[in-house]
Amino acid sequence: MNSGKKILVTGGAGYIGSHTVVSLIENGYTPVIVDDFRNAQSSVIEQLEAITNQKIKLHRVDCCDSQAMNTVFEAEKPNGVIHFAAYKAVNESVEKPLEYYKNNLQSLLVVLELYQKHKVQSLVFSSSCTVYGEPKGKIEVDESFPIEKAFSPYGQTKIICEQIIQDFHHSQPDSKIISLRYFNPVGAHASALIGEYPIGKPNNLLPYITQTAIGKLKQLTVFGNDYATSDGTCVRDYIHVCDLADAHVQAISFLEKETNGVLEAVNIGTGKGTSVQEIIETFETETGVSLNYTIGPRRAGDVEAIYANTSKSEKILQWKAKRSLKDSVCSAWNWEKNIKKNGY
Ligand code: WQD
Repeated sequence: MNSGKKILVTGGAGYIGSHTVVSLIENGYTPVIVDDFRNAQSSVIEQLEAITNQKIKLHRVDCCDSQAMNTVFEAEKPNGVIHFAAYKAVNESVEKPLEYYKNNLQSLLVVLELYQKHKVQSLVFSSSCTVYGEPKGKIEVDESFPIEKAFSPYGQTKIICEQIIQDFHHSQPDSKIISLRYFNPVGAHASALIGEYPIGKPNNLLPYITQTAIGKLKQLTVFGNDYATSDGTCVRDYIHVCDLADAHVQAISFLEKETNGVLEAVNIGTGKGTSVQEIIETFETETGVSLNYTIGPRRAGDVEAIYANTSKSEKILQWKAKRSLKDSVCSAWNWEKNIKKNGY
């Protein structure tokens, strides 16, 4: 057991954060959420309490507010921090680059300052496979793959944040930090009480599919089917959000066991590439719902194909994705139906 060690979860009311809160509790930790709900569903705390049958502590704070955050760290004296709080919509970042740089960089700087000031044991940072940009030629990427200029300001903020973390660790060699580079998070908790809750029209594929299937949206547009892939549509590594949540718990546990300082970056994916067409076919087969979609032009900034080499996550985190694409698609659909039923 982890004797209820306290873990601060910034952005813990969000999609990946809320699922990680459940996984932390299931593994004996005590998560404390820090979130200002700018990109989170208001009812998520009561839904988390229903799933875990525990009171969930919340600080409604902007992570860029260093004074307010210092008060939280003083009050909670956390053993670890998982830093999710950031903006993450690729195309929105192209329209609002300054907001993305300001929010994503400032929130990390505040967390690192307080990590040091309050002698926190471990820090897990939410990074992304977008740091790899367009992996020319080799589409299965491992962590040694060159970090190039990202395809969007969002991806660039992740590259810069990882650089900030490297420089911080160099100045504080005893610090214990791991950056998790997510591939494409999808799906929802089996209870269908929490899941991806896009504010406005979804950017990502699976929520767009489920909102089309339930009638909220008219038609899905597949952004291009003329890529050099098996069926012409883009390939991604779709990982169930609950597997991703478990990876964060394994990362905290890994850092706790490290006696000296450590800095790692680790891919979190399934190691399998799936095309847009395959996702659509899986959705239709598993749900029995025929999807209204059309083929449209390519979307600017899309990478043709990428998926994770998972050997490092298996080796140092003793973690491997367990859930299937079918689990992801069915759980996302159950969540969408629950949103409609309960009017979330
Ligand atoms: C997937 C595929 C689209 C919508 C995401 C996150 C990003 C990062 C990486 C965490 C692409 C196609 C999509 C639609 C479509 N995650 N698509 N029609 O772009 O890989 O990036 O994962 O950091 O934050 O945004 O995910 O779901 O937007 O697109 O055809 O209406 O689906 O072209 O090929 P993406 P996505």
